[in-house]
Amino acid sequence: MRILITALVAVNSLQLLVHAATTTYNVISVAGSNHTMGVIVDGKTYPLQASKDIAVLHSGSAPSGAYSYAKLDTSNGVVEKEAFQRQLDQSSEATPNEFYNRTWNTQHVADLPALADPLPSKHRVNSSLHPKDQIPTIYFSGDQHQVDVMHSNTTADTKVTLDMHLIATDKITTIKGVEISLAGRSSKWLDKLSYGFKTPKDQLLLGYRNLKLRALGTDPSYIREILCYDMMNAMGLPVSGASYTRVIINDQPVGLFLLIEAYKNEWYQNEFGDGKKLKDGRGISYQGMGSLSDLSTLGGNATLFETGYKVQETADKKHGGDGTPSYDRLMDFTKFLAEAPTTTADAADVWNQHIDMDSVIRSLVVEIIAGFSDGYLANANNFFLYDNLAEKRFTYLAADFDTTVGNTLVKLSDMWSGNYTQFPGLTLRPLVTKFLQVPAFKSQFEQLLSKASQQLISPAATNARIDDLVKMLRQDVDWDLALPKMNKDTNNGVADTLAYILAHPDWLPPPLDLDTIKDMANRKPLPWDTFVTGPTNEISLSGVKEFFEHQSKAMQDYFGQHPPATV
Ligand SMILES: *[C@@H]1O[C@H](CO)[C@@H](O)[C@H](O)[C@H]1NC(C)=O
Ligand SMILES: *[C@@H]1O[C@H](CO)[C@@H](O)[C@H](O)[C@H]1NC(C)=O
Ligand SMILES: *[C@@H]1O[C@H](CO)[C@@H](O)[C@H](O)[C@H]1NC(C)=O
Ligand SMILES: *[C@@H]1O[C@H](CO)[C@@H](O)[C@H](O)[C@H]1NC(C)=O
Ligand SMILES: *[C@@H]1O[C@H](CO)[C@@H](O)[C@H](O)[C@H]1NC(C)=O
Ligand SMILES: *[C@@H]1O[C@H](CO)[C@@H](O)[C@H](O)[C@H]1NC(C)=O
Repeated sequence: MRILITALVAVNSLQLLVHAATTTYNVISVAGSNHTMGVIVDGKTYPLQASKDIAVLHSGSAPSGAYSYAKLDTSNGVVEKEAFQRQLDQSSEATPNEFYNRTWNTQHVADLPALADPLPSKHRVNSSLHPKDQIPTIYFSGDQHQVDVMHSNTTADTKVTLDMHLIATDKITTIKGVEISLAGRSSKWLDKLSYGFKTPKDQLLLGYRNLKLRALGTDPSYIREILCYDMMNAMGLPVSGASYTRVIINDQPVGLFLLIEAYKNEWYQNEFGDGKKLKDGRGISYQGMGSLSDLSTLGGNATLFETGYKVQETADKKHGGDGTPSYDRLMDFTKFLAEAPTTTADAADVWNQHIDMDSVIRSLVVEIIAGFSDGYLANANNFFLYDNLAEKRFTYLAADFDTTVGNTLVKLSDMWSGNYTQFPGLTLRPLVTKFLQVPAFKSQFEQLLSKASQQLISPAATNARIDDLVKMLRQDVDWDLALPKMNKDTNNGVADTLAYILAHPDWLPPPLDLDTIKDMANRKPLPWDTFVTGPTNEISLSGVKEFFEHQSKAMQDYFGQHPPATV
């Protein structure tokens, strides 16, 4: 009898012990107004509570064990549940912040190989804004009516103030009163819109104030832009960081975006000053806006400079700036370029006193190997000249990488010829035609092109990165494609603009190509893997792997027959 009682007590305390193990579960999901979220452990359902400030984050305690998240009705009946089981690391008492219906939280993603040391001027701050191993969620909450207004008129430039919560697996960062608006020019024509946002002055998001959420709307592979940031980085160039994020606004999942930094304001101290105030101050920063902004002298006509370039930042007041957008520095530079020495012994030194030629040559090498169809070479567009006061010269910055890597507005066959002189636009741009007359620069440029074609864009260099990105993004691409699109502006001009281009083909500045642009407007849907790998059989869009393989081989063949110049 005593033995039996002892045994019963033992069994009971064992059960107590087992049942005492509880876990705090945390899942991100839009439950909808009629549902709540729950967790199913060993076949039993336990309701979770939505957090007060973050309505999409549902948490609660339940016994430990293999589990799945579920959507529940008002009587806690399961409406829908995950088709797989999750397992928590034995030693943890709480799950990470997990996303509903994603089978993973973090995974390893390979990098591209580095090709050059960072430029001496680059002193990038150490920020945790861009995790490599996960897809955080950005949740915006606030006045839905204002959000609807923003989405219903893409030309009205509506700014909406919302609270934002950046939810990573192990950390939540909240910034209240973030100002969000639609971003881009032609991207407002797409049904999936891009956004910009700005934090309040004294509350930066992990060091940054001005950020962009890129919709990746013209790139059905979703990976072109991040690969271009990777390549710029591999070249040691100053460039925005980039990372994927899921975006939810109130109870509307909006999709998968690329989070990048705008070249505004605090960005310069984050990129050139380790995040601290720049000792010599921030200089003026000019943005090339296309057609007029090829860095020719424009006859010294200031009005034309104002049309061709935007002053993205004026110089700090203490350091020569008075807050007005002066074009003097830029006009002086174009004058220098027109008259710059090419064959004198000191030519390269003289150039380098005006502009960091490593920043120019490395950026333009990336433009070619990665097929930029809307950059400086192809369209005199999407670049910045930053007056770097610490070096008393300009630094070249590249931006906006959506039509790259075979997603193109110019002839793919010309980009792919292997002979870089045939790259669309190259012979039209004064900065390049002139520096190629300086033997030291021509040699540096050809050597780097040749090296990059072997070591940066060859399948051996890119495939691991691409395959890992595909693995990381697959479930989120499915999710993104199935979501309703936010652009409710039916009167946004895309049809008009396309009709205009078709009726006035001469209006298109060369080397932009009418047939390629027509093809872009009439692309066929294909499986995501085909968009990544190719062949797509479209003249305006190759597969990503297809592009690199082709470009790498063509350039290696070319340099095999015409070895890079030496000095
Ligand atoms: C919630 O349920 C009500 C009543 O059945 C229905 O009218 C409403 O459309 C539902 N809301 C959502 C978001 O499904
Ligand atoms: C950057 O931050 C990470 C994570 O906070 C830390 O491990 C690393 O040592 C830091 N690096 C530098 C150079 O400060
Ligand atoms: C959208 O906003 C623009 C600029 O404010 C305005 O001119 C236009 O009339 C608006 N469109 C509609 C349909 O309300
Ligand atoms: C500058 O260009 C503008 C726009 O083309 C033109 O109207 C103006 O006459 C030009 N000014 C000078 C001084 O040439
Ligand atoms: C490369 O292309 C340019 C421009 O078409 C041409 O002049 C040059 O001869 C070509 N070079 C070679 C080696 O084929
Ligand atoms: C869950 O994800 C799978 C795979 O991406 C998808 O097919 C399915 O529709 C998703 N289920 C729900 C309820 O979202």
